[in-house]
Amino acid sequence: MDQAEAKARIDALRREIAEHDYRYYVLDAPSIPDAEYDRLMRELLALEAQFPELVTPDSPSQRVGGAPSAAFAPVRHEVPMLSLANAFDEGEVRDFDRRVRELCGEAAVDYHCEPKFDGLAISLRYEGGALVQAATRGDGSTGEDVTANVRTIAAIPLRLRGEPPPLLEVRGEVYMPRDGFARLNAEQVARGEKPFANPRNAAAGSLRQLDPRITAGRPLRFYAYGHGRVDGDLPGRHSERLAMLQGYGLPVCGLRRLVPDIDGCLRYYAELGRRRPTLPYDIDGVVYKVDRIDLQERLGYVSRAPRWALAHKFPAEEAVTVVENIEVQIGRTGAVTPVARLKPVFVGGVTVTNATLHNEDELRRKDVRIGDSVVVRRAGDVIPEIVGVVPERRPAEARPFEMPTRCPVCGSAIVRLEGEAVARCSGGLYCPAQRKATLAHFASRRAMDIDGLGDKLIEQLVDRGLVRDVSDLYRLDAATLAGLERMGEKSAAKLIAAIEASKRTTLARFIYALGIRHVGEATAAALAAHFGDLEPLMQADVDTLTAVPDVGPVVAQSIRNFFDQPHNREVIGRLLAAGVRWSPVEARTGARPLAGKTIVITGTFSRPREELTAALQRLGAKVSGSVSKKTSFVAVGDNPGSKADKAAELGIPTLDEAALLALLGDLPPGGA
Ligand code: IVH
Repeated sequence: MDQAEAKARIDALRREIAEHDYRYYVLDAPSIPDAEYDRLMRELLALEAQFPELVTPDSPSQRVGGAPSAAFAPVRHEVPMLSLANAFDEGEVRDFDRRVRELCGEAAVDYHCEPKFDGLAISLRYEGGALVQAATRGDGSTGEDVTANVRTIAAIPLRLRGEPPPLLEVRGEVYMPRDGFARLNAEQVARGEKPFANPRNAAAGSLRQLDPRITAGRPLRFYAYGHGRVDGDLPGRHSERLAMLQGYGLPVCGLRRLVPDIDGCLRYYAELGRRRPTLPYDIDGVVYKVDRIDLQERLGYVSRAPRWALAHKFPAEEAVTVVENIEVQIGRTGAVTPVARLKPVFVGGVTVTNATLHNEDELRRKDVRIGDSVVVRRAGDVIPEIVGVVPERRPAEARPFEMPTRCPVCGSAIVRLEGEAVARCSGGLYCPAQRKATLAHFASRRAMDIDGLGDKLIEQLVDRGLVRDVSDLYRLDAATLAGLERMGEKSAAKLIAAIEASKRTTLARFIYALGIRHVGEATAAALAAHFGDLEPLMQADVDTLTAVPDVGPVVAQSIRNFFDQPHNREVIGRLLAAGVRWSPVEARTGARPLAGKTIVITGTFSRPREELTAALQRLGAKVSGSVSKKTSFVAVGDNPGSKADKAAELGIPTLDEAALLALLGDLPPGGA
C-alpha cells in the first residue's frame, strides 16, 4: 500500500470509527459488535504505525475510552478506573502467568477468578456508610455523575451495614439480567420504540436517562468487584476484600473462586464457558486477579491496565458479515422460513454460513436486504440469527427481499392466513418438503388409521423413493415392503392388509386425513355432515364454507386454498382411483331439528364418537366438549366421565344411548 492509499483508508476508518463512537457513547445504540469495532481500531493502529506521518491528534487512535457527555456533571476519579489486558487463548494466559511469577519471584501464585460481567463499570462513593455519589467510568479519569439514577437500583445499598470505613469507594458493574432485558425489549417494541441491541446497551441506556423515574423502571442489578479510594484498614488479599464488601451489604458474585495456579484458572474458564448459556446474565469472559495485595503492588501497572489482572475472553458471540442471498425454506408442515445465506464468518466458536430470519414480519422489521452487512449472533448452541443491519454499510444496490408467492419446492401457492405470523405452502398433499409429516398424519389412528405405518417406516419409504405422496401407499406390494429394514414377510403382509382396510373409511376421517391447515377432527366432521360428499366441499366458495357451524373466515380460506392447488386435487383423484371410498352421507342443509341446541357427549357408545357427532351436527346441533349452563343435554354412554356429574350438578337433562339413537333416527350404516 502506498501513502496515498493508506491515507484514503485511514480517513475512511476514522470516519467509520467516529460514527460508531457517536452511536455507542451518545446514542447508546451501537450498530456493530465490540469485536468488529476492535478490528477497525486495530486496522487503524496498524496503518498509523506503518505511516506515522499520517497520525493526527484528532485520530480516534489518540483517545481511549468514552468522552463524558455534557448532560451529566463530570466526576474526577481520585483513583483512576482502569481497564484490563485481554487474552484470547491459552498461550496468552500462560504468558501472563509467567510474567507474573517472574516479577514476583514466586513459583506459583494464588489467583482469584471472577466472571467478566458484560455491563458497565461504576464507582460508588460511601461516606460514613451512606451513598453520596455514583459515577460512570467515562475515560477512566473523569466519568459522569449518575447518582440520582443509581439511587433507584435496588441492589445498591443506600446505606452500608456493619462498620464500614469513613470513606469507601466501591467499584463494580451495573448490568441487566437477561429475563429483564427480554421483558424491557418486548415493552419497547409494543410501544413502537426501538429495542436495545443487547443487555449491556440496555443497562448503559437506562443509567444515562435524564429522568431517574425511567431508570427506576428498568431491571438493573449490580455486582461489586473491587474498590477505589478507601480511608481505613483493608485485608491483605483481594478475596478477603470482596468478602468484606459483601459484609457491608454489597452484592458480590457467588461464582468467584480462589485457585492455587494458572491451571486452576484455565479449568475455571472452561467450566464457566460451559455454564455461560444458562447464566441469568451476560458475561464475556473471566477475570484472573493476583489475590495477594502485596504482590499486586509489586506488579504495578502498564499504561492503563494492572499487570496483576487479566481478562480471558470467550469467543465473540457476534460478528459482522455480508448477506449474499436470501432464500426461503419449507418446513415439514409447510411453514415458510426466510433464511439468509451469509459470507462465511467465525462466530461463537463455529463458522456460520446461514442464519434464520424467522418470518416475513421479522424480515421487514429488521429490513435485511441482499448485499447488506449484518450482525450475526450465535450464543451457545442456539441457531445463528441476524441481530440487525449495519446501516452505514448498506450498498446503493441493496434491494429488499420479496417473499415468493409460490413454493420453491412444489410450486403451490404460498399463503399467509390472517392473524398468523408464518406463511405456508398450501400444497400439503403433494409438496416433497412436507411428505413425511403429511404421510404420518394421513396414516394416523384418527385419520386413515393405517396400523403399523410409523415414522421409521415412513422415513424409509420416502428416502428410498417408494412413496412420493399419500396415494402411492395404495400401490405398495408386500414384496417391496418385505425388503425394508426391520420388516419381515409377515409384518409386510399385515401392513398391506392395513392399507387395504383403510380404503373403506368415513368422509369425516378422509377430510381430516388430508391435513388441511386448521381442519381438525371436529371441523372435518362438521364439513362431512354439512356437505355430505367430497365434491361439493371441493367446489364450495368461502361464503358457503363459512356457513358451516364452527367454520370461520380463516378456516374457510384455508380450505379454499387447499383445494385450489391442482397438485392436491390430483393426489385426491389418485386416492379415489385407488379405491378409497366412504358410504354416502345424506347432506341435510334443509331440516335441522336440533338447530340452536348444544350437546355434550360423554362415555362410550356402540357407535364411534365422531359418527354421533357428525349425525348431531347434520341435524343442526352444536357439539361441545364441556358442560355448562348453556348445554341443552348430555348424551351419557358407558363409563361416563366427570361431565355426567357436572350435568347432574347443573340439572341438565341426559340421554342414554337408546334415547340418543332414537333422536338421531336411522344412521346410515358405518357412515358419518
Ligand atoms: S476489575 C483494575 N473485575 O471490565 C481492574 N472488571 O476492561 C479493574 N469488568 O470496565 C477492573 N467484570 O467494567 C474487573 N470481575 C471484574 C469485571 C470487570 C467486568 C469490566 C469493568 C471494566 C472492564 C475492564
